[in-house]
Amino acid sequence: MEAGTTDWDRYYPDPTGSPVAAHPLAEALAARLATQPDPRVLLLGIGSGRNVGPFVRAGVRVHAVEQDVARAEAAKRAFVANDSVCIECACYGGPFPERTRVAGALSTHALLHGTPAAIAAAVQAVRERLETGGSFFVTLGSVRDPRFGRGTRIAEGAFAPSDGSEAGVTHSFFDEAGVRSLFSAFELEGAYEDCAAATVGTWAHEPDQARDIVHWYVKARLPEDA
Ligand SMILES: C[S@@+](CC[C@H](N)C(=O)[O-])C[C@H]1O[C@@H](n2cnc3c(N)ncnc32)[C@H](O)[C@@H]1O
Repeated sequence: MEAGTTDWDRYYPDPTGSPVAAHPLAEALAARLATQPDPRVLLLGIGSGRNVGPFVRAGVRVHAVEQDVARAEAAKRAFVANDSVCIECACYGGPFPERTRVAGALSTHALLHGTPAAIAAAVQAVRERLETGGSFFVTLGSVRDPRFGRGTRIAEGAFAPSDGSEAGVTHSFFDEAGVRSLFSAFELEGAYEDCAAATVGTWAHEPDQARDIVHWYVKARLPEDA
């Protein structure tokens, strides 16, 4: 193991065997929560577990919900020695079995998938778990992504690719008005679109496809009077 890396950094490495870097929004949220007393974060979709490390290092308790039984079990095994990490096999559409309030929530590359209605249900479920003043950092699909409008139309703003590694998987795409509407119960601290080539999973995308992927990077906060 390289100096400075840990078991959780190496959990589910990408196919090249390289450790998968945490998403920049995970690093940013961990830094924010680290300044709070006894902070907790909710992760939507454990995936590779790449986003756990920044929170553990920052002293933030992690509660992850993961629908896929095998992934949830693998993550439980990977983090069994760390009692600040709890992984629950559950749907992030809520309501969540665990009701403890959290100071922050993170969804990277999870609310890209599903219909706009399913994504709105997940945002509402997170809202119900967040402390007032809590932060929710999220990536979303953008209408500027070349996959928008391609494949099978599933719903307004939602399409499933006809081919490739994500064939048949519903993806939702948002414009700025759609992002504002989705987070209407929150204060939007920031929402911008950018190329996601450096952050998408190499397990799901070929490098030449990843180059063109565009995501929204959203930082939202639940108002104190919510
Ligand atoms: C593309 S991965 C992203 C994982 C991680 N957030 C990251 O950025 O590396 C999406 C994860 O969400 C899980 N997932 C998908 N739909 C879900 C749902 N409705 N409820 C809970 N987990 C779900 C998948 O099994 C997968 O682990």
